[in-house]
Amino acid sequence: MVVGAVNVCEFQELAKKVLPKMHYDFFTGSAEDEHTLRENVEAFRRITLRPRVLIDVSRINLSTNILGYDMSSPIMVAAIAFQNLAHSEGEVATAKAAAAANTIMLLSTTSTCTIEEVASSCNGIRFFQLYVYKRRDVSAILVQRAERSGYKAIVLTVETPKLGRRWADIKNKMVAPELKNFDGLLSTEAVDENGSKLEALASQVLDSSLNWNDIGWLKSITNLPIILKGVLTSEDAIKAVEAGVAGIIVSNNGARQLDFVPATISVLEEVVQGVGGRIPVLFDGGIRRGTDVFKALALGAQAVLVGRPVIYGLAAKGQNGVTRVIEMLRDELELTMTLCGCCSVKDITRNHVRTERDRLR
Ligand code: FNR
Repeated sequence: MVVGAVNVCEFQELAKKVLPKMHYDFFTGSAEDEHTLRENVEAFRRITLRPRVLIDVSRINLSTNILGYDMSSPIMVAAIAFQNLAHSEGEVATAKAAAAANTIMLLSTTSTCTIEEVASSCNGIRFFQLYVYKRRDVSAILVQRAERSGYKAIVLTVETPKLGRRWADIKNKMVAPELKNFDGLLSTEAVDENGSKLEALASQVLDSSLNWNDIGWLKSITNLPIILKGVLTSEDAIKAVEAGVAGIIVSNNGARQLDFVPATISVLEEVVQGVGGRIPVLFDGGIRRGTDVFKALALGAQAVLVGRPVIYGLAAKGQNGVTRVIEMLRDELELTMTLCGCCSVKDITRNHVRTERDRLR
C-alpha cells in the first residue's frame, strides 16, 4: 500500500525524490517550450461533464474489448522507453502490473528488458510498439520476435521520423541505457559528444523515409494487426483506414515531438469522424484523472493509454506503484461513471460532455 499519494499526479513528486535529475527530466520533459505538454493536460480542464440523474447506478461495469481482447477497463499502459532508468525491474514490473490488472500493455522498441523477457515474465495481452530503422532488416527481426513471443499487435509509431528537440535532454547530455533488444543487431552507441546522445542516436538509426507505402511492407512481414500511433488529423485518419490498418492511436507522443501541435483531446473528435466507426480509435496524452478517461471515451475513443503516471508509479514503488496508478484511474473512472449515470462503457456518449467548441456554437 502506497501511503501518501491520493491521485496519480502525486506519484510525480515521489518519483522526483528517487530519480537522478537526468532521468527525471527525460521522463517528465517534452519538446521545446513544452506548450503542448501543458495543453495536453489543460485542454481536459476546459471540457465539462453533463451528468444524468435518476439512473440505477448500483452496478457499474468497466470492462471492454479491443481488437477482440477483453480488458477489465478501457485504461491501457502506453509504450515508454528506457524503463529500467525508473526502476531496476523495468518493463517486467510494468508488464506484471498490467497483466494483474487485466489490461493491455504496449512494449516500446527501445525497452530495456527484451521482448522475450517481458513475454515470459507473466501472462497478459501485450502489443509491440515499432520504430522503423534505416536498417529495415533490424525492424523486421524485432517484429518477428514479437510475433513469436505472443504479442498481439504491432503499434507503428508514425510521429517520429526524427526525434523532437528536448532541451532538458540536450542540457543533461542524456544517454540511452543499454537496449538489449538490439544486441547483435545494431549499435546503439551515439556519436554526439555535445548534446543529447539520444537525439544523436535517433538521427543515426531512424528511417525518416517511412511513408504510407510502407504499411504494405509491414503487412508483408507480419500477420499481426497493425495500429498506427500518432494520427492527429482527419485526413490521416482517412488514409489510415484506406491503408487497411486495424486501429489508430490519437497521440502526440506525450508532446515530446512537435511543440504547438494541439492537445490530443482537442483533435480526438476530428479523427473519430474521419474514421467513421470503421476501425477502433484509441487515445493518449494527458490522462491524469478518471474524468479524463471518461471525457476521451465520450469523444469517441474506445480506450486510453497512460504514459507518464505509470512511469512515476514505477519509479516510486516498482510493480506496486504501477498497480496503484492503474487502480486509482480505474476507481476514479468508476466513480465518474456512477455520478454521470453510465453503467457501462457503452453508455458513455457525446452528450455527456461539453467542449469549448460546443460553447461557441
Ligand atoms: C514516450 N512515448 C513513446 N512512444 C512510443 O511510441 N515509443 C516510445 O518508446 C516512447 N517512449 C516514451 C518515453 C517517455 C519518457 C514518454 C513520456 C513517452 C510516448 C507514449 O507512448 C505516450 O504517447 C505518451 O506518454 C502519452 O502521454 P502521457 O500519458 O505521458 O501524458
